[in-house]
Amino acid sequence: MSLTLAERSAFHQDPCLPGHHDPYPIYAALAAESPVHWCEGPQMWIILGHPEAVAHMHDPRCSRQRHLDKLIDRLGSGHLFHDQKLDIPYMDGEPHAQVRHHVMETFRGIDIPGLEAFTRRFIAERLDRISPGRAFDLVPLLADPLPVAVTSELIGVPPDLQQEVLMHVPSFVRARGLTQTEQTTAAGDGAIDIYRRFFLPLIHERRASPQDDLLSRLMVDPHHGRPISDEQLLLFISSNFYSASVFTLRLLVGTIAWAMASHPAAFQRLRNDSSLLDTALEEVVCWDPPAQALNASVATEPIELAGHTIPAGDSLTALVGAANRDPRVFPDPQVFRIERDPNPHVSFAPGLHQCLGRQLARLQGRAVLEAFRQRFSAIHWQEAASHRFVGDRFRGFDRLILEVE
Ligand code: HEM
Repeated sequence: MSLTLAERSAFHQDPCLPGHHDPYPIYAALAAESPVHWCEGPQMWIILGHPEAVAHMHDPRCSRQRHLDKLIDRLGSGHLFHDQKLDIPYMDGEPHAQVRHHVMETFRGIDIPGLEAFTRRFIAERLDRISPGRAFDLVPLLADPLPVAVTSELIGVPPDLQQEVLMHVPSFVRARGLTQTEQTTAAGDGAIDIYRRFFLPLIHERRASPQDDLLSRLMVDPHHGRPISDEQLLLFISSNFYSASVFTLRLLVGTIAWAMASHPAAFQRLRNDSSLLDTALEEVVCWDPPAQALNASVATEPIELAGHTIPAGDSLTALVGAANRDPRVFPDPQVFRIERDPNPHVSFAPGLHQCLGRQLARLQGRAVLEAFRQRFSAIHWQEAASHRFVGDRFRGFDRLILEVE
């Protein structure tokens, strides 16, 4: 495919092409030119190739903390970027490895069979509300409430208490996008304030009387023999757990339904063969990843990548949605193949910042897909009435109007 000037310029301004109905042919054309591009809008190197993206994800010469320093230089101090120095996606080196280890250990304490049963019950209860023959919006029906219910179950905050916090999650996530402005930064600051007002009392309450829940287990790191500070806990809960879950899962649920609706033959095969469930879910996550790009880092020394030298001090990130369609790694990358195996997609960022919630994401995604294949003989989507989410690094739907048989 040859690119139009408008497509090329849109990519250079905002490489994730927010809200674009199908950015992948554009990525493929750009990746064929070079697996690495410099983009003027975010002032950043963008990696589109799979091997180059994987190398970047494992490269300790790329610093997240230095990227925050750049944002502080550009947008001024006193914003959320200071707080984010303790936020796992923005940590580096040994302190990062230690907190990751602690969070992983804490997550190991989750009762997975119990959570699976809870998730299946919740999905069944929501899908029971669909009236036969009537179109419905999957986002308020299932995509929004499912991750909220699951996080409530895990951290013990009733869903109705979360409404005010929920409204601010998009601003928080947006403030850590690839492109930043004073407005996105101010909205992110507002979200952090709300998180502080909401979660700090909860943290104090749990410190006073610990319970058998995730938050109580996060409070002390037994391996490194230290209590975790309120500020770090606040970020564990609000950013690493709450925002990470609520935001991405809602997008994944819509994308699962849309992928099935737009590939009816694949959906029929899945209905007839439950052994395809796991590979089908991986293919959805590969084919249209909810998180299209990693958080940015800064090269701490010159880095050679696909014939380019990225100078020390320059920012860079990997575009996972593009890397997942790399023809050097994926046969028929533009074809949706629910039996694809192996599927070495990078949607959960395998490397130093690999997603810590991928097991929870897969658990919920699998339960949704299983419910669809058991209940529905066909899924149709109304494209004109639906609406894609538009916002920086993420893809999915804000409104997804479906009809099911
Ligand atoms: C469909 C759902 C999800 C997707 C697609 C997703 C994707 C990702 C990606 C791409 C990263 C790497 C970010 C980076 O390097 O900048 C990441 C990191 C992370 N994710 Fe997820 N995620 C999902 C769900 C979750 C859930 C449910 C949780 C928590 C319960 C979670 C917690 C985290 C954390 C804490 C990190 C930071 C890891 C680090 O920097 O060391 N994610 N996720």
